[in-house]
Amino acid sequence: MQQKTSFVSHPVETVILGTIFSCILLWFIRDGLRVEGIEQKHVFVTGCDTGFGNLLARQLDQRGFNVIASCLTDKGGQDLQAASSPKLKTVLLNVTDSQSIEKAVQFVQTEVGDKGLWGLVNNAGRATPIGPTEWMQKEDFNKVLDVNLIGLIEITLKFLPLIKKARGRVVNVASVMGRLAFAGGGYCLSKWGVESFSDSLRRDMQYFGIKVSIIEPGFFKTGVTSLAVIEKDLQRLWDRLSPEVRDSYGVQYFDKYLKAQSLSMNTFCSSDISKVTNCMEHALIAKYPRTRYGAGWDAKFFWLPLSYVPSFIADFMLRALLPTPDASRQQIKLAFNSTDNLHKIQVNPH
Ligand SMILES: NC(=O)c1ccc[n+]([C@@H]2O[C@H](COP(=O)([O-])OP(=O)(O)OC[C@H]3O[C@@H](n4cnc5c(N)ncnc54)[C@H](OP(=O)(O)O)[C@@H]3O)[C@@H](O)[C@H]2O)c1
Repeated sequence: MQQKTSFVSHPVETVILGTIFSCILLWFIRDGLRVEGIEQKHVFVTGCDTGFGNLLARQLDQRGFNVIASCLTDKGGQDLQAASSPKLKTVLLNVTDSQSIEKAVQFVQTEVGDKGLWGLVNNAGRATPIGPTEWMQKEDFNKVLDVNLIGLIEITLKFLPLIKKARGRVVNVASVMGRLAFAGGGYCLSKWGVESFSDSLRRDMQYFGIKVSIIEPGFFKTGVTSLAVIEKDLQRLWDRLSPEVRDSYGVQYFDKYLKAQSLSMNTFCSSDISKVTNCMEHALIAKYPRTRYGAGWDAKFFWLPLSYVPSFIADFMLRALLPTPDASRQQIKLAFNSTDNLHKIQVNPH
C-alpha cells in the first residue's frame, strides 16, 4: 500500500526511470538478434597468419561460416588449414600488392558464385616503424600507411561488388590509436584514416543494405605489440638520428623510452584476444551490428573516454607515460632561472 503511494507521489520520476529501463532492455534484445543461414554465407578475412585474424578465421569456421582466410605467407596458410575444418579455404594475399589483391578477388568470386560475399574483415596490419615523430622519415610513414590504410581501401573497393550482391558487411579493424594519437609514425594516421574511410563507406553504402562496423581494440598481446620487434626498429631509428637531434633527447633518453614503453605495454596488454574476435563475430552475425566496437577494458574505460576529454587534459595524462627529453628539462630550468633572476633584479635593482 505504502509502495503504491510512493509511485503515485513520484509519477515523473517513475515514467523517466521506466523509459530508461525499457530503452536499455530493448537495446539488449535488439543487440542479441541474429542473422539466419550462416552455413550459406561466405566471409573473407585478411591477415590470418597470426593474431586476431587467425583466431577469427578458426572461430567463424567453428560457427559454420564458409571462411576464406587470406595469409601473407605459405606457412601461415598451411598452419591455419591444419588447425581448421576442410571447409575453410586459404589464399595468399599481400594487401600492398594490387596483383595479389586481384588474384584473391578472383578466387573469392569463384568460391561465392552468385551468392556474393557476406563479410569482408579488413584485419591485416602492422605497427612499425612507431616512435617519436621527429625520428621518422617519409618512407617510415609509407610502410605502415600502405598496409593499414591504402591496402584496406583497395581491398574494400575491389570486393564491394561481391558484398553488394549479398547485401553484406564490412568489418574494419581500427584501434584506440585511431581515436587518440599518442605515438609518431604511420600507425595512428592509418587508423584515423580507417575510421574516416569506414564512416564515409557506411553512409554511402547504407542505401544498398551494406553495413560497416569499426573495431577499436585497446592493447592486446599479438605480433603488432611485440616489444622485441618494436624495440629493434626503435634502435634503428635512434641510430640514424643526427648527433644534434640525439643530444636534444639526451644519452639516457633511449633506455628510459624503452623502459616506459615496456611498462605501459605490460600494464595495458591483455592476452585474451577473443575479446576482439567476439566483437568481429558480432559484427558479422548480429541482425543489427554496431557501428563501433571498443574491445578490451583499457579501450572502454581509459583510451576511448580519454579521447573525449579536452586536449590539454589528454596531453597531461599522456605526458606522464613517456620520459622527458633533456632539452625540454634544460629549457624549464633556464626559464625557471630567468624568472628567479628577474625576481632578484626587481627586489634589488642595484
Ligand atoms: N594487438 C593490438 O593490441 C591491436 C590493437 C588495435 C588494433 N590492432 C589491429 O589489429 C589488426 C590485427 O593485428 P594483430 O594484433 O592480430 O597482430 P598480428 O598478429 O601481427 O596480425 C597482423 C597480421 O597482418 C599480417 N600482415 C602484415 N602485413 C601484411 C600485408 N602486407 N598483407 C597481408 N597481411 C599482412 C601479418 O602477417 P605477418 O605476421 O606474416 O607479418 C599478421 O598475420 C591490425 O590491423 C592491428 O593494427 C591490434
